Amino acid sequence: MAEISGTAKLPPSGDKHTEASENLWVAFVTGVMVLLVAVVVYTSVHYGFHPPSQVETIDSTSLHKGGEFSEANLGTVIAPDGSALVRVVAQQYAFVPNCLVVPAAKPVTIRLASADVVHGFIVEGTNVNAMVVPGYVTTVRTTFQEPGEHLMPCHEFCGIGHQAMWAHVRVVEASRFPTDADKQKAVTCAP
Ligand code: CUA
Repeated sequence: MAEISGTAKLPPSGDKHTEASENLWVAFVTGVMVLLVAVVVYTSVHYGFHPPSQVETIDSTSLHKGGEFSEANLGTVIAPDGSALVRVVAQQYAFVPNCLVVPAAKPVTIRLASADVVHGFIVEGTNVNAMVVPGYVTTVRTTFQEPGEHLMPCHEFCGIGHQAMWAHVRVVEASRFPTDADKQKAVTCAP
């Protein structure tokens, strides 16, 4: 029969060396936590960093009837300062438009709304990655540094056609966009 012993050898209390190293670790960990909280507070206040917006609501059942996400508004418009605003509708099982054209090295704001269920989108090779929840507008801001092509698949299972739901993002030189005020029609990739 094995004997169960409940007495472990403890270091003698008041061991100065143990106490000093414990205090050092407590101070270190506290310092790390204070630093992390300070970074969160500083970036959120100073740079306005926040998770993708989930607070802007929209009626997903009437997107096609008018307003910001009506058909004529879908695609890219360029502001006088050269920044781009892209509006996209996600629906089973396509993004509309299915090819987004954006300027390189300019701030790009992408706004998406779902016409039916939860979708998601990720722009391959970038940090753009968000969900599109019906009833809400998803807004993502980014800058594409180099011209090129990116795939933009839906990454939330949204039904039987989910695996066929994807779009392209085409990044072109900013000089290829018209900037005159009278050409502010939403554009998509040229066929
Ligand atoms: Cu839309 Cu998966």
